[in-house]
Amino acid sequence: LEQPPPDLPVQPTKVKRLCKTHNSITVNGQFPGPTLEVNNGDTLVIHVVNKARYNVTIHWHGVRQMTTAWADGPEFITQCPIRPGGSYTYKFTISGQEGTLWWHAHSSWLRATVYGAIIIHPKAGDSYPFLKPKRDTVIALGEWWDANPIDVIREATRTGAAPNVSDAYTMNGQPGDLYKCSSKDTIIVPVDSGETNLIRVINSALNQQLFFTIANHKLTVVGADASYVKPFTTSVLMLGPGQTTDVLIKADQPPARYYIVARAYASAQGAPFDNTTTTAILEYKTASCQAKCKTSKPIMPRLPAYNDTATATAFTTSFRSPRKVDVPTEIDENLFITAGLGINQCPPKTRARNCQGPNGTRFTASMNNVSFVLPSNFSLLQAHHQGVRGVFTTDFPAKPPVRFDYTGNVSRSLWQPTRGTKVYRLKYGSRVQIVLQGTNIFTAENHPIHLHGYDFYILAEGFGNFNPKTDTAKFNLVDPPLRNTVSLPVKGWAVIRFVADNPGVWIMHCHLDVHIGWGLATVFLVDNGVGPMQQLEQPPPDLPVC
Ligand code: C2O
Repeated sequence: LEQPPPDLPVQPTKVKRLCKTHNSITVNGQFPGPTLEVNNGDTLVIHVVNKARYNVTIHWHGVRQMTTAWADGPEFITQCPIRPGGSYTYKFTISGQEGTLWWHAHSSWLRATVYGAIIIHPKAGDSYPFLKPKRDTVIALGEWWDANPIDVIREATRTGAAPNVSDAYTMNGQPGDLYKCSSKDTIIVPVDSGETNLIRVINSALNQQLFFTIANHKLTVVGADASYVKPFTTSVLMLGPGQTTDVLIKADQPPARYYIVARAYASAQGAPFDNTTTTAILEYKTASCQAKCKTSKPIMPRLPAYNDTATATAFTTSFRSPRKVDVPTEIDENLFITAGLGINQCPPKTRARNCQGPNGTRFTASMNNVSFVLPSNFSLLQAHHQGVRGVFTTDFPAKPPVRFDYTGNVSRSLWQPTRGTKVYRLKYGSRVQIVLQGTNIFTAENHPIHLHGYDFYILAEGFGNFNPKTDTAKFNLVDPPLRNTVSLPVKGWAVIRFVADNPGVWIMHCHLDVHIGWGLATVFLVDNGVGPMQQLEQPPPDLPVC
């Protein structure tokens, strides 16, 4: 007899943080939501039931979703939202991925509280490429607002201003003991002297790259975005929203309590950001420490300054695949995509109070000067599958409309992108290179660029304008890391490659949610191939339609 799949209810739940009780949207009444623990090769069937008063969808961030784009989750891209009272069964298989991913709401700003970890163990009988750790701990970094996050983004969308920054960073939903009313709920991570533990760090913050460190302990990085990496040792991690990093730590310090801390890496000049620090405590369980440790003040690490781009870059460029990999050497599609902010004039006759961006404008953002507009009455995948016209156009440009000094002083005439639901069409199996180029339009910032439905190799990254003559020599075609999110350096570039072997409609966007709303996204439409694993499956019967 077939068992019905387990329910994941999305529902309002009382959550107390920073001295106040909120009615937050959670999954299963838990904040953060439940951790899904699976093996490589498992098929997951998850019945999401919407018991909240908002539309919702769930995205399984980093899961490749081979031929199952219907289960990917971004609202109006691969499905219409699950309406209040509705439900949808996500079904997909984890194939060839091991390590840490996560799931989150992909609808407005619901993911502030609707998220959780996905732990992917090796197949039964397979082993890790490192000694099996004694303990396995998830630390999901997040952001907390004293207000309802949906109200924060609605208000900003109405006025065109930047939304309020968060009131706290969190680890597994807890701000930690440096914040008011948070001390007794600070997360404790236990260790025994001498053991080596795995810590899975996820940046699930909405809008902030974060530094992460543990006092006096070396971090040996062994994985990222559910791919293993050549191990390297560091004292500081930097994760953009969307990224995961698996580290081994050896409990080789005198038994005591050590702070685990995270704080902003804020690359934008002059932009406001949350400058607070979230903490958890690494606590030695060793007998000699028990009494003393419970009461002793944890040891505080040194963290890089909020604007320490050198440390952030040193970390993000340390990644290698564990061995030689199969990077496409020939290229069928060579794209050059700019990513950055901008501003738009307010519609004529808008009253000033409805236009509170810089100097009476509205904030916007774009790729190749196109500010992406989500459809509102159809999903792109459905429109593509049924051949419905008028929902999107296939004229997303392969390069910016004009060449300019991307990272210099950008002329004001370039500050206003056009708006549209433009996609870029890729033939099944084409070998794709994308040069991502950050711009200095309005202001420059590090953008965590995430591609759905694919992992890609990061061949190189650097600062300034990408120069095809000299920068191609820097490409790592031997052992580049495989990721689903790349930290595009502030006023810099990154080059990625992948083979378009997953049919469907896939969004690529900045994972700072404030930038998605401003249009920092584009979409790839990948045609079907002819073989059996080369075609998009039929839509599930309960797919939410608009
Ligand atoms: Cu984790 Cu489209 O996102």
